[in-house]
Amino acid sequence: MARHLITSAIPYINGIKHLGNLIGSQLPADLYARYQRARGNEVLFLCATDEHGTPAELAALAANVPVVEYCREMHKVQSELADAFGLSFDFFGRSSSPQNHKLTQHFAGRLHAAGLIYEVTESQIYSVTDNRFLPDRYIAGICPACGYERARGDQCENCTKQLNPTDLINPRSAISGSTDIAMRETKHLYLRQSALKEQLDQWIDEQTDWPILTTSIAKKWLHDGNGLQDRGITRDLDWGIPVKRGAKAWPGMEDKVFYVWFDAPIEYIACAQEWVDSGEGENWKRWWRLDEGADDVRYTQFMGKDNVPFHTLSFPATLIGSGEPWKRVDYIKSFNYLNYDGGQFSTSEGRGVFMDQALALLPADNWRWWLLSNCPENSDSEFTWESFQTGVNKDLADVLGNFVSRITKFCQSKFGNKIPDGGSYGPVENEVISELALRLANYEAAMEGLEIRKSAQELRAIWAVGNEYLQKVAPWVTIRDNPTQAAVQVRLALNLIPLYAILSEPFIPNASKMLLSAMKAPTPTWPIDLDTALKALKPGHVFEVNGPLFSKISDEQRDLWQEQFAGGREST
Ligand code: 2FM
Ligand code: ZN
Repeated sequence: MARHLITSAIPYINGIKHLGNLIGSQLPADLYARYQRARGNEVLFLCATDEHGTPAELAALAANVPVVEYCREMHKVQSELADAFGLSFDFFGRSSSPQNHKLTQHFAGRLHAAGLIYEVTESQIYSVTDNRFLPDRYIAGICPACGYERARGDQCENCTKQLNPTDLINPRSAISGSTDIAMRETKHLYLRQSALKEQLDQWIDEQTDWPILTTSIAKKWLHDGNGLQDRGITRDLDWGIPVKRGAKAWPGMEDKVFYVWFDAPIEYIACAQEWVDSGEGENWKRWWRLDEGADDVRYTQFMGKDNVPFHTLSFPATLIGSGEPWKRVDYIKSFNYLNYDGGQFSTSEGRGVFMDQALALLPADNWRWWLLSNCPENSDSEFTWESFQTGVNKDLADVLGNFVSRITKFCQSKFGNKIPDGGSYGPVENEVISELALRLANYEAAMEGLEIRKSAQELRAIWAVGNEYLQKVAPWVTIRDNPTQAAVQVRLALNLIPLYAILSEPFIPNASKMLLSAMKAPTPTWPIDLDTALKALKPGHVFEVNGPLFSKISDEQRDLWQEQFAGGREST
């Protein structure tokens, strides 16, 4: 039995995630976790909320609640939505957990002891009125490029230009609006990533099977310009993990916290500790420590392309620099962006469909199927209501749903609610089984190789085999002259349903569960032997199918939703 450690990039705490966030990491990670579990492998699937940094502070400020409370509430909201989407995390942690505090400080202590951290004095904007340094996002002003009045010190949301705070015209504090701001000196810690460049470069070179998207981004950061830069790992903020060396104070750093991107990936490990401490888990070290049994773990990470530099370089630098035997990632699956109806999904502008809104319209499986089968794997992809309607109606309702309802209704009307008796599979049925064997092998290869769109295509083709078979043998015609042969045909078709359920489970877990319970079938297990699996429901076995598996999206619904979502929502 193989052992799979799977992590999804941990979503920022500030607000409910949109479908672009979901397909960029959590949903594909869930697909893979479910598939590996179904194969009987041991899986530890972890995710958490990313709770530190300015976005969290700003969101709490906007919601007018203390940041601690804001994070606690939003973690609950995100966790409930994850459940409702069928995201099967073994644990959904929090980067603000005590475990992550301790571990982050531990890593900082080790890196310091290894001579990989140094102090830099720099000038930063300070707000006299607010009595604090202002991170870039906390400075507002007029965009020099487009004149937008509420541009931020890191970027103009209106024209998307990347900015420095000093570029802004009439800069002011985004907290109080005060213009009483000045440059002041402050001291920060830098991680000497440059010293680890050779090791990182060699490690990336060894990853010959990684997606090009992943390695090309890593290589760019390693070699473009002056090569890999050292990185500031502290910030002048109140909210975050206090800067310490292990349990010891760090002289001169008393009012500072670690940069959110330093502590967030460490949460992958801390999350396993939270899982153990919650009483659900056991021995996190056998997943994370090479000296404690993690050497046979295969570790796969899922993330959007903007996260790649942090996972290919910064986090590995932390792990390598610690000098301790930590498990490192074996495979990084990265994604391009999903766009929304001619533009971008945007949390700050409330543009697109958000997880809670999606579930208010349709069951999770509809979204899961469309998102996975259209995921931005090799290029950006786009959500449009037309494409969503087509995916749901054609693939789910016409191909899978229609097959199930057609054959179960026909059986009910001619043979009753049970698998019909008589005859045995002949050449046509064996041909179907051979075709399925081929397609099953393709499906497995695509899933193992994390080719998600291809996996979806193969699955769709497997569903279509059922309809094609019915079309070809037409049991409704056969039954007129040869009821025994019709019984054979119906029996094979009905036996396809539990097979479809198990193969489809990673994509559409709820429908899969409904199918298995309707057919009262035991869950078939991997490795799947089709000869056995397609005879599993024996003559006389009783089943009960109620109602359609999927409803179609009407043109009226499609138009209504398109219009309803055109205006965006208030940011959460
Ligand atoms: O891009 C994001 O949503 C980040 N919150 C991802 C962090 S992943 C990791 F470092 F933990
Ligand atoms: Zn602008």
